[in-house]
Amino acid sequence: MNYNDVLQNARACIDTAKCKACPVCNGLACRNTIPGPGAKGVGDTAIRNYQKWQDIRVQMDTLHENKPVDMSVQLFGRKFSYPFFAGPVGAIGLHYGNAYDELTYNKILVSSCAENGIAAFTGDGLDEKVMVSACEAIAATGGAGIPTVKPWNLPLVEEKLQLVKKSGAFAVAMDVDAAGLPFLKNMQPPAGSKSVEELAEIVKAAGIPFIVKGVMTVRGALKAHAAGAAAIIVSNHGGRVLDQCSATAEVLEEICHAVGGGMKVLVDGGIRSGVDIFKALALGADGVVIARPFVTAVYGGAEEGVKVYIEKLAGELEDTMKMCGAENIAAISRDMVRI
Ligand SMILES: Cc1cc2nc3c(=O)[nH]c(=O)nc-3n(C[C@H](O)[C@H](O)[C@H](O)COP(=O)(O)O)c2cc1C
Repeated sequence: MNYNDVLQNARACIDTAKCKACPVCNGLACRNTIPGPGAKGVGDTAIRNYQKWQDIRVQMDTLHENKPVDMSVQLFGRKFSYPFFAGPVGAIGLHYGNAYDELTYNKILVSSCAENGIAAFTGDGLDEKVMVSACEAIAATGGAGIPTVKPWNLPLVEEKLQLVKKSGAFAVAMDVDAAGLPFLKNMQPPAGSKSVEELAEIVKAAGIPFIVKGVMTVRGALKAHAAGAAAIIVSNHGGRVLDQCSATAEVLEEICHAVGGGMKVLVDGGIRSGVDIFKALALGADGVVIARPFVTAVYGGAEEGVKVYIEKLAGELEDTMKMCGAENIAAISRDMVRI
């Protein structure tokens, strides 16, 4: 099976009124289709996320020793073969059609990512089954995944953290930007935005490395750091929580300058190839997260589809590192890209 087969298979079982499993997942066809994988409002933020990576070009330099490159990274004491992770996608049936239920989807994604040297984040949703199934899938791999808890009210967050702890997950995330999702906005007791003090309480209750997902400003990054987060994900939730956001590629570098070194910085949003991954690392990220294309990979080929996609990304990253003269991830530097 190659990546084209994966996409073709996906088109046969995804709800194509919502997602067309496009050759490049660039936000153009789904635009603002929600339910579905589109973006909020006019729907151009996911498109901008993708396009801004394309505006960055890589700088070729083949005058260096010809030897294999090392793509491995360490995160929270674990070694991963590559600096990319599968992103959280919740309520899979609602957004992509019922070929997969939550449990089967999470099981396939989490286990095949673990088997192929990376880790998957899992999603959360109004239906409590979403987080339960995510934690079951992570427990089945000995904790090799990262549950992403929504910013519910504090008692509900604590309930979800109990599930996370039982799963043995090596880290936990919270998509604080989910404050912009309609179902969270209207909840009683109120859910959504968290003060630094509330976030610090949640970080402490988690007791494992805590990742704040959905940071788009230096100010936000400093607040996450003050609350005790071990990492942030520079993310606008793929454009699904606020219309007319900046692209993540536009804000990544300034955020890395402000907090890089103090905590890990990951980034998502429109990263689609090993070349894009290289660009994000050159701007200062410690790793990247890719969400929507992993859904297509599961729908189009289950475990094998995920493996094919991981190998495709790894091959592209390896080629870019070799062609730009970076022998390992730490050697990828700012002067290897041009904006
Ligand atoms: C259908 C759908 C569901 C999502 N569900 C979640 C979720 O439950 N938790 C979360 O943190 N992010 C969720 N996201 C956001 C993604 O994790 C990611 O931040 C975003 O899609 C940008 O990455 P991408 O451009 O690689 O898809 C969801 C995205 C989509 C398209």
